[in-house]
Amino acid sequence: KRDGRKFKNRQTPLKIGHRGAAGYCPENTFASFNKALEMGVDYLEIDVQMTRDGELVVIHDSTVNRTTDGKGKVKDFTLQEIQALDAGSWFNPTFSGERIPSFKEFLENFAGKTGIVIELKKPSLYPGIEEKVAKELKKRTQRLTEEHKIIVQSFDRKSLKRFHNLMPSIPIGVLIKNTGRGISNKELNSFSHYASYVNPKITMVNPRLIRRLHRNGFKTIIWTVKNKQEMKALQQLHLDGIVSDFPDYF
Ligand code: G3P
Ligand code: CA
Repeated sequence: KRDGRKFKNRQTPLKIGHRGAAGYCPENTFASFNKALEMGVDYLEIDVQMTRDGELVVIHDSTVNRTTDGKGKVKDFTLQEIQALDAGSWFNPTFSGERIPSFKEFLENFAGKTGIVIELKKPSLYPGIEEKVAKELKKRTQRLTEEHKIIVQSFDRKSLKRFHNLMPSIPIGVLIKNTGRGISNKELNSFSHYASYVNPKITMVNPRLIRRLHRNGFKTIIWTVKNKQEMKALQQLHLDGIVSDFPDYF
């Protein structure tokens, strides 16, 4: 899986729109994805979870409370119920028509137009989510996946291993929270069995860490840039990708 070495000297890191263009539009909505594409991203980053009736939906939190006019857990809604919610007004009333996209709708509209970074969000809440995501991808995007225009990432390492076994051709990214403990050699070694990317939070990043990840054969995508100073600081590093809420800062 380790092929970071080839990309160590990439001139321009991949431009990845976080939940679309979450700084400008309600996150994980069609408005947000279209805005990010207008701003020239290479990839859209999305979060995928599952409804009570087993449908995949694009939403970040495990409840609908923050980003819709409803209340409750994603896993307690049917697809029809969750799509009746307003997913735009909380951000700005001008976005009141926005809905929570299903993963199917997302792929129908955006696969092929852009690269996609799919985050399996809290997959332990949704047994079988890896199979469902793999099934959708296999159905629609054989050519894209062969061209490596899809990356699957998660904080949940078990889930990533499971996904890797289902679709070994899709590059996997391990998301790393800043726990203050860094990343051990033992962890890096275990990631190498299934992952191509190791993706740390921006607060962990320094030139030494990036060199170490590349030396160990991983590519690396850094998340999440929220201001211009951060973007400027990252330009000094040899990164493979940067995730930002503000894709125009690229
Ligand atoms: O791309 C990484 C980033 O999306 C992970 O954090 O909380 O924004 O899903 P979060
Ligand atoms: Ca995410």
